[in-house]
Amino acid sequence: MDAADKQGGLGGGMLRSSGIWKLAVLSTAFWTLVFYVHSCMQGGDGVGSVLLKKSTSSPPPLLSSDIAGRRAPPHQQQEVQSQQSVTAPADDDRCAGRYIYMYDMPPRFNDDLVRGCSKLSPWTDLCWVVANCGMGTPLNDQGGFLQARGWYATDQFMLDIISHCRMKRYECLTGDASRAAALYVPFYAALDAGRYFFNSTSARDALPLDFADWLARRPEWQATGGRDHFMVAGRTSWDYRRKADVDEEWGNKLLNLPVMQNMTALILEETSKTSRNTIPIPYPTYFHPETAADVAAWQEKVRGAERKWLFSFVGGARPPSSHTVRAEIIQQCDASSRCEHADCGSGACSWPSGVMRVFQSSDFCLEPSGDTPTRRSTFDSIMAGCIPVFFQPDSAYTQYTLHLPKDPDSWSVLIMHTDITGRNVSIEETLSKIPPEKVKAMREEVIRLIPKVVYADPRSSRVDFKDAFDVALEAVFDRVAKRRQGAATGDAN
Ligand SMILES: *[C@@H]1O[C@H](CO)[C@@H](O)[C@H](O)[C@H]1NC(C)=O
Ligand SMILES: *[C@@H]1O[C@H](CO)[C@@H](O)[C@H](O)[C@H]1NC(C)=O
Ligand SMILES: *[C@@H]1O[C@H](CO)[C@@H](O)[C@H](O)[C@H]1NC(C)=O
Repeated sequence: MDAADKQGGLGGGMLRSSGIWKLAVLSTAFWTLVFYVHSCMQGGDGVGSVLLKKSTSSPPPLLSSDIAGRRAPPHQQQEVQSQQSVTAPADDDRCAGRYIYMYDMPPRFNDDLVRGCSKLSPWTDLCWVVANCGMGTPLNDQGGFLQARGWYATDQFMLDIISHCRMKRYECLTGDASRAAALYVPFYAALDAGRYFFNSTSARDALPLDFADWLARRPEWQATGGRDHFMVAGRTSWDYRRKADVDEEWGNKLLNLPVMQNMTALILEETSKTSRNTIPIPYPTYFHPETAADVAAWQEKVRGAERKWLFSFVGGARPPSSHTVRAEIIQQCDASSRCEHADCGSGACSWPSGVMRVFQSSDFCLEPSGDTPTRRSTFDSIMAGCIPVFFQPDSAYTQYTLHLPKDPDSWSVLIMHTDITGRNVSIEETLSKIPPEKVKAMREEVIRLIPKVVYADPRSSRVDFKDAFDVALEAVFDRVAKRRQGAATGDAN
């Protein structure tokens, strides 16, 4: 599904500053979304039509607050209760340095957005997408390409809900802000932003401004100016960094508001070189394992997958001129007998199993920029044990420094887009020159990454592996500690 690409635009400043980008963005975003929804409804494999029925006749969607308290399998109930008691001071403190204070916010900042899921998108009802703590509709094993447990039709922009659900079960919550290592603000900024991209700037900024006003009045915020606060805003930076109040400019201005200056927002991609208030974290994939055993079983499966294609590309073309590298990639792939191209325009990539089938059958997966430099598809490819091929460093290397290995060559390939568009570099030739034992080692490195970049089922009381969210939390604790120290010694940090 190239909903992975639906934000619209070219991966860089170029498109954004040119006059035509908006049109391009709007039209791709529109058509991709319409197409995506359309093809999901058509549901080539039958799942889509079930979905459609579900979304029109199902009871009101589950709110994150409903879900957090239930669903715990009986063997986990005990643990849930003990988590609550952790909020009382304990001497032998396994939570030292990890306490989190979670704001109880008015529902207009979170649950009301989920409740209004039929209005989250101008074109379609997203109620089936926000269900299950933001993981969406559960999938079965899809004819053997997935597993019976842990797979969902997860939309790429649902991390606000997934994280909040997860935080409600966090084992070291405290009601005492003064002893917290960090303060979590559960504002669903991505859901809010997604509603109004095509409305006036005042509609886009209304809830962010309301949020800023509300937060700045909290004594917990005033105590530090937000230095120890964090939130999860699951979209890319350019959705939140509008500079001028003109409708032609993209996005809202959340990240430019004073209240955000010293907070940390976990987002999907940062393109500002000077930002100090964001940390990019992986896009969610379709996989949400509950236990380390679920992860290991999946790793074993993709390790043994038969990979009949040298490389593959799942995605469509983009408006001409702005995406010459895509056009060239598609041309090269279509011309090669060793490349599989799943064209989103033909519906081949509109459902998770379609994407995962192709990725599991390929050694290398091409990940050119979409509307912005990063793509959710990169993380789907990692899940499938398919070695990502990037065409610019900011598609991954400069973004996900917490989650991805320091040495890019150990798990991925970079072919600069300029080399492709210069028409002198053949992707097939480049990839087929990599020795088989090197390919195997890279694949193993990719498979090893799975637990670290996956988001575990936020409803489970998983304790036996560290997932993408755990990794991000550690970075937040670190940053807050440094900033507190900086404040104490007078250093801005
Ligand atoms: C946003 O635009 C849509 C479509 O024009 C309109 O129906 C809706 O009322 C607008 N919402 C706001 C808050 O302005
Ligand atoms: C953010 O921190 C800087 C440096 O510590 C400080 O000068 C500034 O006033 C803070 N901003 C807010 C909104 O508190
Ligand atoms: C391809 O051509 C471009 C422009 O002519 C040049 O800068 C680049 O080094 C070439 N790349 C290779 C691998 O030959």
